[in-house]
Amino acid sequence: MYQLTQDVIDSFSKIENERQKHLITTLAAKLHEYIEDVQLSQNEWEMAIDFLTRTGQMCHGQRQEYILLSDVMGISMLVDEINHHQHEKQTPSTVFGPFFIPEMPVRDYGASIVEHADTETEQLPLLITGRVVDPDLNPIQNAKIEIWQTAENGMYSGQDAAQQLGNLRGIFYSQAQGEYAIQSIIPVSYQIPSDGPVGELLNFSKRHFWRPAHIHFMITAENHHRLVTHLFLKDDPYLESDTVFGVKDALIVDYQRCEYSAEMEQKFNIDSAYYKVDYQFVLAKEQA
Ligand SMILES: [Fe+2]
Repeated sequence: MYQLTQDVIDSFSKIENERQKHLITTLAAKLHEYIEDVQLSQNEWEMAIDFLTRTGQMCHGQRQEYILLSDVMGISMLVDEINHHQHEKQTPSTVFGPFFIPEMPVRDYGASIVEHADTETEQLPLLITGRVVDPDLNPIQNAKIEIWQTAENGMYSGQDAAQQLGNLRGIFYSQAQGEYAIQSIIPVSYQIPSDGPVGELLNFSKRHFWRPAHIHFMITAENHHRLVTHLFLKDDPYLESDTVFGVKDALIVDYQRCEYSAEMEQKFNIDSAYYKVDYQFVLAKEQA
């Protein structure tokens, strides 16, 4: 170790919070070790500063290039691995991603998150139903279910000026027996944004930009750990090579086509054939 490295570590010794001190001094030590290991050149240092500067400049209210960078480097999933020791029965978590928007419309049980359908390809509705439960399968009532997904063009509202901000987004609350019902459309595989530094990195590395089709969920309930996850659709060609490493087997769901029924029209206002997914979300309890 260079004396300089030790001097830098020592310079942080007055941080009072032990955890914060540990985080900063370890970061300094590991960064110095990396730079020493690779014998970083002046030119490479300038390229790194330029890359990080442009990554920051790419961020705004509805674009988060740093989360994208964390995602494609596998950092988001590593943090997930470390922090979510799976209870056997608990629904696995996965990446949060850069496309969440808070305070989206609260919708009724069974309502649709589609605010304007694509008129070129009239898609059948997708009905997602199931329950939110604890690991003992007790229902969780009033769990807040936030959902977001891309439109058929592979873009999220917020990325795409043609979509209202609330399109394919919404907040639902679970019912007395933990049950929820949400109408949407079948999600599509999409490419993450390629017009920023993360795109340069993937192109340079000859990596693809695809994520397998998925729907995002964030479920929050009193006395339970928040669950941030996706549901992926089986048979997607990118399940094995998700560019952000987010796929877990327990999150891959099958979906079935169901024919029109008067019962479903009466219950959920579905006046056509439709697709159906059933999924039970299991939230871990917070320690008492
Ligand atoms: Fe996504």
